[in-house]
Amino acid sequence: MVSSSILEELFYLKNMQRTYTAETPNKVGETVKLAGWIDTRRDHGKLVFLDLRDKEGIMQIVFTPQEAEAHGLVQEARPEWVVEIEGEVKERPENMKNKEIATGGVELLARKLVILSQAKTMPFDIHGDGYDIDEEKRLTYRYLDLRRPRMAKNLKMRHLCIQFMRDFLLKEGFTEVETPVISKSTPEGARDYLIPSRLYAGKFYALPQSPQQYKQLLQVAGVEKYFQIVRCFRDEDPRADRQPEFTQLDIEMSFVEQEDVLNLIERLYTQLVGKFFPEKRVQKSPFPRYEYKDVMAKYNSDKPDLRENAQDPNELAFAFVVNFPMFEWKEKEDRWDAVHHPFTRPQTEDLEEMKKNPGDILAFQYDLVLNGYEIAGGSLRTYRPDILSGVFELMGNKKEDIQAKFGHLLTAFEYGVPPHGGIASGLDRFFAISFGEPNIREVIPFPKTGDARDPLMDSPSEVTGEQLKELHLEITKKK
Ligand code: AMO
Repeated sequence: MVSSSILEELFYLKNMQRTYTAETPNKVGETVKLAGWIDTRRDHGKLVFLDLRDKEGIMQIVFTPQEAEAHGLVQEARPEWVVEIEGEVKERPENMKNKEIATGGVELLARKLVILSQAKTMPFDIHGDGYDIDEEKRLTYRYLDLRRPRMAKNLKMRHLCIQFMRDFLLKEGFTEVETPVISKSTPEGARDYLIPSRLYAGKFYALPQSPQQYKQLLQVAGVEKYFQIVRCFRDEDPRADRQPEFTQLDIEMSFVEQEDVLNLIERLYTQLVGKFFPEKRVQKSPFPRYEYKDVMAKYNSDKPDLRENAQDPNELAFAFVVNFPMFEWKEKEDRWDAVHHPFTRPQTEDLEEMKKNPGDILAFQYDLVLNGYEIAGGSLRTYRPDILSGVFELMGNKKEDIQAKFGHLLTAFEYGVPPHGGIASGLDRFFAISFGEPNIREVIPFPKTGDARDPLMDSPSEVTGEQLKELHLEITKKK
């Protein structure tokens, strides 16, 4: 037998059925229950108007003196209070229809108002574009800043674009694979974020600068077509287009040539732009391919802004830059370093030639640039263990160091490794450009400040002596 309290609860839940504002145009004449935030309140003598906001949109609610209780209560209600409103969906008179908003043809005649929670006065205006507001403040109250229509839209668009990328790659036969975040220091050219180990005194994990080695190991594993929407961590000074943690669309494929990778990424971005940004014009299709040495000679930059009219927000100038040099001389460190990373395949299989003139060797490396930003980078990989060891040596690694740092990869390559290559797209950069935002912080839900802090959580922060002790760490203060 079902107890009466459960029946009561079921009845209550049934009654709780909620309608979203966006659904109301199809429910004229029906009584519905809406819930959300009071966006604005306008008092017109006897009539009080609320705009109610939920995740789908906004809608006008009318309170009349005929519904005395609700009308009395709405006098107290203030912007950003959270409420539930029951009432009848009415078609608005023709001359009162608002074509600007999706629910502009209807309004709700309120019968019942329940105040679920109240709100203090907002620390800043959440209706405007917000660019002028002190960023420290915006980030301290990010959860309010994200109510801003511009930010809410960025959040949603980001989700839709990522969903599109997933669907696109699934149709292409890719498998999304998760790789560890608690990992080992990898040579991607930036500083690592380190995690001290509690169980192994004096040893450290590192947060991955990218899943580079894992995605290559997955090719040895036979995955063949890997992708991951993945967070990467680099301890660099943040800039407009740089964050300590950022998101990549990371891809790796077996049995491919350079053109296969470029074609895939070109089709992905072309279809994505066509679907979500139809107002934008892709300047050249197929995306032009430029030699690294030519763009450097012509623009003195490996990520030139190729727009014909840089004032036009709807112009997207995609281009591939190819044939980068394999090595660059690091004056400070007095050694050769890989321009991309050491796993990149040099355009020669002659180790002697490579060691004689490292500066002349080109690599199967490519970048995708868009409007003056590098939005993706990748390469074909060296899969011959002898060449890979040669590259590590050329970069100044001693034989025993190579074994300690990269032994796992060299060993894996002794068990049947397919030729492979890949690319990683910096999604935050692509979104900033395509959403028309001046920096990537506007498209990241909870970014760090320009000096790598999170003012909302107040991080980085101090930890207790107990925590330090467990991690075998000691803080020494400078005298
Ligand atoms: P790379 O280091 O070129 O390649 O990174 C790929 C893309 O990631 C973006 N990016 C960043 N975005 C925001 N903040 C940052 N700090 C940041 N650093 C990089 C850029 C860049 O083009 N594993 C290789 C890829 C590969 O070889 O497949 C890699 O990570 O848009």
